[in-house]
Amino acid sequence: MTAATLVILGASGDLTKRLLMPALYRLHALGLTPDLRIVGYAMEPWSRAHFEQHIHEALQAFAMDFKPAQWNRFRRQLDYVGGELKADQLVALKGKLSPATMFYLALPPPLFGVAATALGEAGFSESPRGGWRRLVVEKPFGTDLASAEALRGQMHTYWEEEQILRIDHFLGKETTQNLMVFRFANRFLEPIWNAQNIAQVQITYAETLGVEQRAAYYDKAGALRDMLQNHLMQLFSLTAMEPPSSWDAEVLRDHKVEVLRSVTPITAKTINKHAVRGQYRAGKLGRKKMIGYRNEPGVKRGSDTETFAALRLEVDNWRWRGVPFYLRSGKRLASNYSEIAVQFREVPGPIPHAVHAGNNWMIFRIRPVERMDLLVTAKQPGVKLAGRPVTLTAPYATPNDREFSAYEQLLVDALGGDRSNFLRFDEVEWAWRVLSPVLRAWEKGAPNFYPAGSEGPDTQARLLDLGHDWRPIALDGDG
Ligand code: BG6
Repeated sequence: MTAATLVILGASGDLTKRLLMPALYRLHALGLTPDLRIVGYAMEPWSRAHFEQHIHEALQAFAMDFKPAQWNRFRRQLDYVGGELKADQLVALKGKLSPATMFYLALPPPLFGVAATALGEAGFSESPRGGWRRLVVEKPFGTDLASAEALRGQMHTYWEEEQILRIDHFLGKETTQNLMVFRFANRFLEPIWNAQNIAQVQITYAETLGVEQRAAYYDKAGALRDMLQNHLMQLFSLTAMEPPSSWDAEVLRDHKVEVLRSVTPITAKTINKHAVRGQYRAGKLGRKKMIGYRNEPGVKRGSDTETFAALRLEVDNWRWRGVPFYLRSGKRLASNYSEIAVQFREVPGPIPHAVHAGNNWMIFRIRPVERMDLLVTAKQPGVKLAGRPVTLTAPYATPNDREFSAYEQLLVDALGGDRSNFLRFDEVEWAWRVLSPVLRAWEKGAPNFYPAGSEGPDTQARLLDLGHDWRPIALDGDG
């Protein structure tokens, strides 16, 4: 990697402390960013030494493997400038930039546009000869289609689309990237990855976490905006996309957008067949009593924000017509359980005695462990020709593998200029287009309650085709 500078705007904030710095520290420790200079920028009039101290404490708390000797090397990469998000103050950064410079907006969403403009006004968006300028920004990208388009307009005043790297941290997860490798590097899969052979797909991201300290943001966002519009839509497009002709970032993203464009539009009339929302009320997680969402600190009294959302999407193309894709995510559910589960259709011929039909599933497990399971039927030992379910399991990583966190992965990609794992604006746009009718419908009415620690609202069953069941989320990993 060439010598580069990373400027973090919002360097005194939570994202910097909890996620960015620990990732940068590890990359440095692994020798992957030896020449990277990291300049923090925030409102606080801190000295460089004060910033160092702040990061030192953050790393002690959040870095995976903190070592004083390593810290002493890492700290030399750090620098700090205090100021507001105004061009005449940002210019103080000028002497600290290198030809290759990336600006990371670790800021609250309302400041994304403001910061992008101020950086442009300061002259920082123009790539110098032989170098580059990039801008990294993380979801949420607007709160609906109109606000996403407005934000895009604001960002494009000074920045080209190719310079903007939109982060969806799920694209940095190993399991997500494995979807592409597994689907397209194994010959046996592609001929059966279609409606003739697949009956349904379920994508679940279940969390035991509640709203925590984030009510100010979450109560306005809700599960559909927070998880489905971005993370689950990405998992969905990677599961359903056509094989790309090359691993070029533009080709890959073209194919993902194509999936979103092929989704049968949800309408006001069909909404109940396609979307369900829920909100947790008081309940129990294990033995621990949990309060209901409406009683969480910072949540508006009588709030109708959904903490659970489930969708049924249909992809109207040759490959997928007739296969429901069920997506769901929720807070305060029974366990931290996440997977992409693909069920194959039943065999057309007679099956041996005592074989349970319809039990072929390919499961990409994300949590609690990352691994792949293929659920099949094999002979039950004994004198009878009978079958029983067997799971072929492939652990995702071996003890010798070096794994990277999503932020480590994405920072390496961003600094290396690989845009494959970042969202192009049309991906954001089409995800909003698919969901706009749901957002509109949910402006009225109320979510269905579910007890904290449960599987979500019972009403989610109405999205399913006859013969389909939601897979349980409270499994210990073997179901
Ligand atoms: C974030 C959401 O984008 O993703 C959170 O805002 C959610 O609400 C989180 O908890 C889940 O991702 P991870 O990687 O922390 O499991």
